[in-house]
Amino acid sequence: MLKAFNNYTPPAALTGSMRDFRYPKGRDLEARVAGFFKWQNLRRQNGLWPFSRSTEESPSTVCAARDDAGGKIDGVNFASQDYLSMSVNPVIKKVAQEVIEEFGVHSAGSAALLGNTHHSVLLERKIADFLGMPEAILFPTGWAAGYGVIKGLVRSTDHIVMDSLAHTCLQEGASAATRNIYLFRHNMVGECRKWLEKIRAKDQENGIMVVIESLYSMDSDTPDIAAMQALCDEFDATLMVDVAHDLGNLGDDGRGHIGMQGMLGKVDLVMGSFSKTFGSNGGFVGCRSREVKEYLRFYSPPCTFSNALSPMQAATVLKAFEIIESVEGAELRNKLMTNVLSLRRQLVEAGFEVYGDPSAIVCVKMGSEGLARLVSRRLPETGLIANLVEFPAVPKGQARFRMQVMANHTPQNIRDAVKRLKAAYEMGLAEFEAQTGAEAEPLRATA
Ligand SMILES: Cc1ncc(COP(=O)(O)O)c(C=O)c1O
Repeated sequence: MLKAFNNYTPPAALTGSMRDFRYPKGRDLEARVAGFFKWQNLRRQNGLWPFSRSTEESPSTVCAARDDAGGKIDGVNFASQDYLSMSVNPVIKKVAQEVIEEFGVHSAGSAALLGNTHHSVLLERKIADFLGMPEAILFPTGWAAGYGVIKGLVRSTDHIVMDSLAHTCLQEGASAATRNIYLFRHNMVGECRKWLEKIRAKDQENGIMVVIESLYSMDSDTPDIAAMQALCDEFDATLMVDVAHDLGNLGDDGRGHIGMQGMLGKVDLVMGSFSKTFGSNGGFVGCRSREVKEYLRFYSPPCTFSNALSPMQAATVLKAFEIIESVEGAELRNKLMTNVLSLRRQLVEAGFEVYGDPSAIVCVKMGSEGLARLVSRRLPETGLIANLVEFPAVPKGQARFRMQVMANHTPQNIRDAVKRLKAAYEMGLAEFEAQTGAEAEPLRATA
């Protein structure tokens, strides 16, 4: 059962952020991390630690789960990443069972050795064809693909020019590859150009990788991909686009923003994940030549020195691609977009502000972490499962709820979600104002 919380909440549980513990000091590497646990536990004891939760059944539209203190929660689920509801698709589940029967459960090796299977070989071909690119290569996760494509190709004398909101796998890959990293303000093509001009004015010898996403995972907005590729061509740079959140689920044919912007087959490097739309762990890089593919296989450590996707994962993703290209796939995308538009409209009508453009990611603005935590604490009792997002996933002071929509959500699920978020917001706001004496930023609806 969920614990009931009294009105008093220790201020330290409402303030502070994970940023405070990023650089612990002291020579004892283990002892010095205890401060984080203390702060985390204070939040946990006050019902303000909505992370590390576990599902008790499939991550479907309505779901039972537990928080990390063991408290049971259930309700409409907008916290799972399963945009086309592939994880519960009966055809996909059947394929998984059949492949396990034939191949067992494990690939038992790196893709650089004997870890490929019949299914992963077919999947690489499938992805390349889907993207209109000559080649593609699999990685164990999307994170590994993002990190690995950068670390695999960029060397210490090269340069990386990157959108300031690029995903952590891209930032970590960049930091591991070179110290020459230049961030441009989110989606600002002009600022990216300035960096490229500056770099090329001094360095004609080394490579430049420009790193962006096709759909940003916390803001649901999109760059001008054609303009970015043109810029890269002008300055002899290589564009790398992370398509984790829109490939398969957005656009008439599921090619995401790359397809919608007429850039299919025209981007230098495309990297993505199966974990949002394709019902499995795993990632990939699409590239323009066999040379690049082979180089990544043997010089990108998360590919070379990590176990390959299991046969079951590769086969289910392959089946997911088949569905995505079928009439059923088009119907699933339509259902998803209908749900997205309906959720966004109802949230705005309820007085909330939502970020970005319509996509499966619908982020609802909260602002202050303290307010967002108190609202989040009330969600379980109203019957809504939605992820609170705060630093390091977003900047401090920009907390939000990230609601991830599925094709299988029903109109009733969406109505319930908005009603429940509103009820939790009102309770959380009253607590926040009573406790801190501060007035929260007003909720502002955008058109
Ligand atoms: C933009 C982006 N790239 C890459 C990843 C990593 O994908 P995966 O979950 O497959 O490791 C994520 C997942 O959070 C993401 O949001």
